[in-house]
Formats: sequence, structure tokens, C-alpha cells
Amino acid sequence: MHKTRLSLSFPQSFARRRISSSVNARPGFVEILGAQYPTDSITNITPAIIAKLPMRLHARPAHPLNTLRHLIESHYSDFAHLSSLSPLVSPFKNFDELSFPQDHPGRAVTDSYYVNRDLMLRTHTSVHEVDVFRSGKDRWLLTADVYRRDEIDGSHYPIFHQVEGARIFPADVSGMKEVAEDNARLRHLLAKANIVIEDVPHITATNPSQPTHDPMYSELVAENLKLSLNSLMLTLFGGPGIGGATPDAPLRVRWIEAYFPFTSPSFEVEVFFRGKWLEILGSGVVRQATLDTANVSNKLGWAFGLGLERIAMILYSIPDIRLFWSTDERFLSQFTDKAITTFQPYSKYPSCFKDVSFWTRQDIPLHENDFCDVVRDVAGDLVEDVKQIDSFCHPKTNRTSLCYRINYRSMDRSLSNEEANEIQLQVISRLEEQFGVEIR
Ligand code: PHE
Repeated sequence: MHKTRLSLSFPQSFARRRISSSVNARPGFVEILGAQYPTDSITNITPAIIAKLPMRLHARPAHPLNTLRHLIESHYSDFAHLSSLSPLVSPFKNFDELSFPQDHPGRAVTDSYYVNRDLMLRTHTSVHEVDVFRSGKDRWLLTADVYRRDEIDGSHYPIFHQVEGARIFPADVSGMKEVAEDNARLRHLLAKANIVIEDVPHITATNPSQPTHDPMYSELVAENLKLSLNSLMLTLFGGPGIGGATPDAPLRVRWIEAYFPFTSPSFEVEVFFRGKWLEILGSGVVRQATLDTANVSNKLGWAFGLGLERIAMILYSIPDIRLFWSTDERFLSQFTDKAITTFQPYSKYPSCFKDVSFWTRQDIPLHENDFCDVVRDVAGDLVEDVKQIDSFCHPKTNRTSLCYRINYRSMDRSLSNEEANEIQLQVISRLEEQFGVEIR
């Protein structure tokens, strides 16, 4: 957190140079999806990210993410389905409107992509809750690309896709009768299914119902959330084949108490798959402040958000998250719109490891996510993994030295050592130019 704050103050000249050198825009502006936006001292969106904004993988026919979205939509067939909201949002909508505290780490420039102080790339689909509730929808799913600055490895990518789902009911006797009836229906359905659920109490002292909620109403709604999502887990993971449930090995789902600023009580769901518990989604009873802002204060309900890549990697056996972005026919032609199938790896090409050691400048903080964005910007999807292998502070000069090991590997072809060297040289000159590092 401390480090992230410091990044806010990196010199403007460095920030500007990075953006305007590689993006087709007037000086001091950045072009995103055909429009120009002013940059400022916190601008940190990179050309590599901007180039990916129009891709919309979740809307490409036969793409695994699209097929999975459709599967979830068909499970929630009586919900409204949305999937084309702009990723550019205000930090106010992404955070403040959803009751995030001022010091929440997600707000830091090291964690999120900012176009400028007033505009950012959404970090989660919950950003649209207020607008969708305000439009009068009381049951809806929303699929979208979300953006978070992160490390580089086989399961992290700065863009991923989420499905947000929500349902609200009238906060009165008639609404609660509807919930109770739905709960009875779902309970009956799940009782016959091959699923074992480890539950936690709906409401506890550490995971409380909200002050303005009748605890009985909150209990009913939390139960509806859990039943509804248990039945979704059965749709996604419960089928035979694909390593799901079998007669002697039922699907195992567990509920865990969680915390989100915009829900209470809050829960996470994990599914047991190939010997491990995998985190699938976050959820909870929607904070009344959200519904008040949306002008539906007389309602009460739940929301969840799940990550599509995580689930698709499991269901399709896709080993590296970069593959979703592949334009190689050997990847794309494997899939159809109709079904989830096991990915057939076509080849694994050799890795090319390159190390870089440097002294950082004391006045220009270099967060690990800054380093990773430089590498992604230069190498694109040719980078598979980045690890810090050394960090040390010189006792006399107080200077910090860092060493990173970058693993370059193409998913589609053999990468030559010369090509990897060329990329590595570009990474080094970008580090020198933007962060003033001194190579050792
Ligand atoms: N938006 C949360 C996330 O990205 C998930 C979530 C959605 C949690 C809806 C609660 C309710 O982690």
C-alpha cells in the first residue's frame, strides 16, 4: 500500500513519454476506442492494453469465453442479459458508489489502469450495478472485460472477463413470499442432485445482515443466493465427462465467509476440482446504499461476480491464460458454439529465459506491476512468466538493486534466441527511459 501511494508521484515527463510515444494521439491525449482523452500525472494505461480493448472475446462466436457465457445465460434464462457496456468508467462509479473506503488498495495506480484522474478501466463488473438496477431490471446478468494490473504468469493476465449476476425482490411480505417459494423449488431440485455442499451460517457477527434489513428477510435472500449459485455450479461442473461429478464422487461446493464493500453478508464459493479447492466467485446481499443510489430503495437482493477465464481454464483444460487471446487457427478452430470440449495442445515451444538486473532510482518508484506492464508492452503475449529473483538494498548508498527473470515463450511458434534478445534490449531501454534505472 505504501509503495503504491508513492507511484502517484512519478514525474509527469516519464508518464507522458510512455503514452504519447506509441499511441496515435495529439500530445497530452490518448486515443482509446476511437476517441481522444486527456492524460495527466496518473495516466498509466499502456498501448498494449489499449490495443486489446476492441477484442471483446466474450462476444466472439465459438470462443470458449463466449460459449461459457452462453451456458451461464441459459442457466439464468429468465434474467436480462447484457454484454456491451463500455470499459471506461469513472473511479467514482468503480469505487465510491459501491462504498469502497478511500484507502482501498484497488484504487492505487499500481493496481488499476487510469486514463486520467476522472477515467479508468473498470476493475470489476459490479461497477454497473447501480445503472442496471436504476434501469428497472430486477434480475440480470452482465458479461464484460475487466482490467487489473498484475504479475505475469500462466494464470494472470491484466484483462479478464467477469459475469455479474443479480436479483432483487420487493422488500415486503409479497417479495419475501416469492423468495420463500423460489427457495423451496431450488431446495427440491438440489436434493435430488449429485452434490455435497459445505455451508456456513447465512448471517454471523462477523458477516452481519445490514442495519436497515429485517434479519429474517436477509436470511431468506442469502439462502436464495446460495441455492441459486449451487444450482449454477451443478450446471457448470456437475456434468459427467469434463472431470465433473460421478456417482461415487459427487460435486463438492463450499461456502466461505467473505468481505466486499458493497455486500453484507458476503460469501465466496469454491469448487473441489482435481484434488484442489478453486475459488470461483464472490457474492452477497447487496448493500442498501447501492439500491438507494439506484432509486430502488424498496427492494432487497443479492449479487455475484465470477471470473470466466478461471472457470474456462478448468472446464476446457486450457493450461495458459494467454491462449484465450490467441489468433492461431490451431486454437480457435478447435471450438464450437455448442459445447465445452477438452483443449488439445498443439505444441509447446521452448522457453527463453532472460535476466535483467538494475539499480532503481530513489525518486522514481518502480512497482512490480510497472515492471510487468513494460514487459507486456514490449513483448505482448510472448511473455509467459516474470519473477523477481533478487532484491537488495546497498547498505552504504541505500540504493535498491532488483533482478527479474523473464520467461519468453510463444504459444504458436518457436522463438529464436536473437528475437528474445531483441525484445529484452527493448525492455531494458524502456526501463531506462521511463524509470531511469541503471543496468548492472
Ligand atoms: N466484484 C467482486 C470482485 O470482482 C465480486 C462480487 C460481485 C462480490 C458481486 C459480491 C457481489 O471480486
